[in-house]
Amino acid sequence: MIHVRNAWHVAAWSMDIEPNAPFPITIANDRIVIWRNDNGDVTALADRCVHRLAPLSLGRCEGERLRCMYHGLLFNRDGSVAEIPGQDLIPTGASVRAYPVVDRHSWIWVWLGDPALADPALIPQAVGFDDPDWILGRGQLDYAAEARLIHDNLCDFSHLSYVHPASFGANENWALTRPKVTVLDRAVRFERWVTAQSGMRGGDRDQPVDVWSFYEYHVPGILLMPSASYPAGTADKLNGKAPPPDMPKTGVTFTSQAVTALTDKTSRYFFSWGPHKDHGDEALRDMLMGIADQAFGEDKIMIEAQQRVIDQSPDVRIMPTSADVGVTQFNRLVERLSRDETL
Ligand code: FES
Ligand SMILES: [Fe+2]
Repeated sequence: MIHVRNAWHVAAWSMDIEPNAPFPITIANDRIVIWRNDNGDVTALADRCVHRLAPLSLGRCEGERLRCMYHGLLFNRDGSVAEIPGQDLIPTGASVRAYPVVDRHSWIWVWLGDPALADPALIPQAVGFDDPDWILGRGQLDYAAEARLIHDNLCDFSHLSYVHPASFGANENWALTRPKVTVLDRAVRFERWVTAQSGMRGGDRDQPVDVWSFYEYHVPGILLMPSASYPAGTADKLNGKAPPPDMPKTGVTFTSQAVTALTDKTSRYFFSWGPHKDHGDEALRDMLMGIADQAFGEDKIMIEAQQRVIDQSPDVRIMPTSADVGVTQFNRLVERLSRDETL
């Protein structure tokens, strides 16, 4: 499994990192401890004490610092050792690795690669709970599958027709049409009309709508999708062109999703979803979250089963179809960025 290390990886929901409570997470096989101090500042260090390698996530926060609760070494926020109980001399280079970390859009983002390249401007524009325009719910799921299979799933919505007819009310049009795929610097963009879909985004499931399906899938695995639905027939009226911004809509939602590789064979999937405040309320948000929980459970069953098949037949090659253009482009982007890291 290839990991792009020079990228911001989602480690947790911001609100799940409570003050003074060390939080362990493994990202792309790196064991990391994250904690928030009383000021709200967040720190990420290697979760491995420099002394005898106990996990610092079992440690105790002391003001700005974190103490290993095995033999008491105290660590500064930059990973250096501040104190060794009963010993005056602190060896030079006594430190654990500190990771660049940013608390933004309700997620904690950790940069795994070269700290000199950790530009917060590279954090994708997810919508967080601090944005008053959206009424969001959230959830997360752990997968016994490699993150790449979830990236593949999210870069090919033809599966909606077969995996999600019950939850999303998706019909065959997702599989019968193809999106326009555009490769960006660190993302792949998908756009197309999908006609005659369930009107759930507007709160009325019986009234079919045309969906302008537009989303971007950013490295290392961040999906940003502002969905809008329109009265049935709109796609034809526009001859398949993108809808102008002022066109009346039957529903507007935003979902931000993050796929984080924990190890080569396990992943964590974070998601939020909800309506724009002018197109829904908490009741619609709760209905959408019920749909999301059902739908992402449907994906998990298929992808974990797919992983078991792959593990039992590792030498069998895949056979791409024309629905895989976005999948292939995203995988190529990941390969190129990770290759660039080794140059
Ligand atoms: S292992 Fe951390 S102080 Fe000994
Ligand atoms: Fe899905």
